[in-house]
Amino acid sequence: MIAAALLIVVAALIAAGCQPQQPPQADPATPPPAQAEPAKGGVVNIYTARHYGVEKAFDEFTRETGIEIRFTTGSDAILRERIKAEGRYTPADVYIAVDAGNLWLAAQDGLLSPAESEVLSANIPENLRDPENRWFGLTQRVRTIMYHPDRVAPEELSTYEALTDPKWRGRLVMRPATHVYTQSLVASLIATHGEARAEEIVRGWVANEPTLIDSDTRILETLAAGGGDVAITNHYYLGRLLNADPNFPVRLLWANQDDRGAHVNISGAGVTAHAPNRDNAIKFLEWLSGATGQRSFADSNFEYPAIPAVAPHPLVADFGPFLTDPLSLAEYGRLQAAAVALLDRAGYR
Ligand code: FE2
Repeated sequence: MIAAALLIVVAALIAAGCQPQQPPQADPATPPPAQAEPAKGGVVNIYTARHYGVEKAFDEFTRETGIEIRFTTGSDAILRERIKAEGRYTPADVYIAVDAGNLWLAAQDGLLSPAESEVLSANIPENLRDPENRWFGLTQRVRTIMYHPDRVAPEELSTYEALTDPKWRGRLVMRPATHVYTQSLVASLIATHGEARAEEIVRGWVANEPTLIDSDTRILETLAAGGGDVAITNHYYLGRLLNADPNFPVRLLWANQDDRGAHVNISGAGVTAHAPNRDNAIKFLEWLSGATGQRSFADSNFEYPAIPAVAPHPLVADFGPFLTDPLSLAEYGRLQAAAVALLDRAGYR
C-alpha cells in the first residue's frame, strides 16, 4: 500500500541529509509517476522498533485520516541513536518502541517532547504512560510463566519468586541479563521488594542454573523440545506459536495472581522533540489510542489493548482473565541501571 511503497531508506537519507523519498522504480524504462504528492492530510514519519504487523494499522490510519505514513524499522537502540544524531533535522515525528525501559531512555536523552492531549490522557491508563506525557503505552505485553504440561502441573507454579525453589534446578529457561525484558522484570522486583530481597530472588534463579537464550521464541521452542520445563517469556510469543500450530505443547500461567499480579510491559510511542509534523504525530497517537487503532495494533502481535474496553484477539482472550501489576511503567526506566547492576552482582549473565 502507500505506506509500504513509501518505506523510507533512512540510512541513505541521513547520509544525504535530505527528506524522505521514494525507492527506485522497478522498471527504469517506465517514466516515474508524478512526484509523490503528500496526502491531503500531510504526512507523519515514524521510526518504529516494533515491526510485527504495523503496516495494517498504518494503512487504516491513512484511510481514516488522509495522513500519509512513512516509516522505517530498526532496533530500539539504533533508532534512538539515529534520532539523537539527526538532532533538529530529524525526519522522525514519532518513535515507537517496545518496552517502557526504551521509552524512558529516549525521554531521558531529550529525544521526546510532551504531547498534551486530552484524548491520550483519557484513553491511556495512568500507569501505562509517562507522568510527563513524553510517551504512551499503546499495547500491553505480559511477561509470565510458561511450562510444558507433560512435565509440570500448573499447581506447582505460582510466582516469579517461587522459581527460586531448588526443585527447578536445571529445568528453567530464561532470557539473558543483557536483554531489556529481563532488566524490566528485575526493575519491577526492586520496586516491589527493595534491592536486597530482589537480589536474593535473582540469586535464587541463578542457583537453579537456568539455560539462558536470547529469544523468547527459541525459549518456547526449547521447552517444546524438552530442553527445559519452565520459562519466563512474553505472552504474545506463545500467541504467535499457537496461531501457527494450535497443538504447540507449551502452556501459560499468569504469575503472581495471589499478590501484585503479572509483570506488564508495553509497546508505546512518543512524539520526537524536533518532530517536523508534530500535529500529525499527536493525531497518530490519538488514533492508536482509540478503538480502531487499539484493535488493529494489538491484534497484529497478539498483544493486549491498553484500553480495557477493547477486547483482545480471541486467541489471546483464551489465555483467560488475569491480574496485572499496577506498578507505574516509568519505574522500569528509573530502576533500569540498578537492575543491570543487580543482575551482574547476582551472577545472572
Ligand atoms: Fe518481543
